[in-house]
Amino acid sequence: MNFEQVDRVRPLVWQNNHLLVLDQRELPHRQSHLVCRTSSEVAEAIHVLAVRGAPAIGIAGAFGVVLAAHAVQADTGAEALQRIDLELTALEQARPTAVNLRWAVQRMRSLLQAMGSDWREGVLSAAQAIQSEDLAANYRMGRFGADCLSEGARVMTHCNTGSLATAGFGTALGVIRAGIAIGRIAKIYASETRPWLQGSRLTIWELLQDGIPATLIIDSASAYLMQQGLIDAVIVGADRICANGDVANKIGTYAHALAAKAHGVKVMVVAPSSTIDMATASGTHIAIEQRPGTELTHIGGAEIGARAAAVYNPVFDITPATCIDFLVTERGVITHPDASKMAAIFGPLSSP
Ligand code: MRU
Repeated sequence: MNFEQVDRVRPLVWQNNHLLVLDQRELPHRQSHLVCRTSSEVAEAIHVLAVRGAPAIGIAGAFGVVLAAHAVQADTGAEALQRIDLELTALEQARPTAVNLRWAVQRMRSLLQAMGSDWREGVLSAAQAIQSEDLAANYRMGRFGADCLSEGARVMTHCNTGSLATAGFGTALGVIRAGIAIGRIAKIYASETRPWLQGSRLTIWELLQDGIPATLIIDSASAYLMQQGLIDAVIVGADRICANGDVANKIGTYAHALAAKAHGVKVMVVAPSSTIDMATASGTHIAIEQRPGTELTHIGGAEIGARAAAVYNPVFDITPATCIDFLVTERGVITHPDASKMAAIFGPLSSP
């Protein structure tokens, strides 16, 4: 499988001691980069969704730790860590739902704590390792997930889970790339993903860069397409997967999963183990990010509706484990995940 041929986009590049962020707010019309020189610039890039997608914000967070650390003078990693503690807390809190951000910053904290006088190079290598491990995990998940699909599968995906949302290749979109590469997928539907339009702006664009044709649908068309027998599998990513297998992902995922259950369509969730949160027992405990109402009322700066009395804009939802047929991680595939299957692979429920 030649993955490079079907994967050209990269959202985050470390260059000349800065983090270059492909600004996803501007896609697909403009490809421009933000240059982040401080950890607070990285936190802001995460907060405003210049970089988004659970694994990508984890990687950005790791490079944010590098920028914070490189700005201080210290003899050891532990000393550097002490000086940047508050900055790292702000970085971790740039977005609340995807666990990858907290996971990456915590991993960077513990590695830095143990580093000696060579901590400057060490902290950069630690961030680069998070990035390269993510790419490797995506390649593995691509193969595992594609093997679960039937020949000629017609698949639907939601949000953007591709190279833009990860170190490269993608999670759910990685499975779709791999499925295309081995000739197993006959048709791809991408839902537009209101209100931020990750599907129509990012997924369709990203697949176009790699010569993969996809059909755009509105989010609420998915049940109709399933009723017409046009979809065999819904393939999505995750922002957090709990100890019982419940999945937090982009708002609308739950509705697609319910429709899939009603029509005998398979539901596949694809995420690296950095998205697994064994300290959260079930989806009810996950903080769901709320974003400004202007994301609903405006498109490209133009107001599109009448003035609503109020706007409610939760941007993630919880799909119960009972709706999921395949949970794909780089460690393998769990069919019909539940607490005991999760514990067998990822260890027991831990304390937060
Ligand atoms: O708000 P976003 O665009 O960061 O939400 C992204 C998603 O919900 C993705 O499905 C998820 O992070 C997985 S990305 C591989």
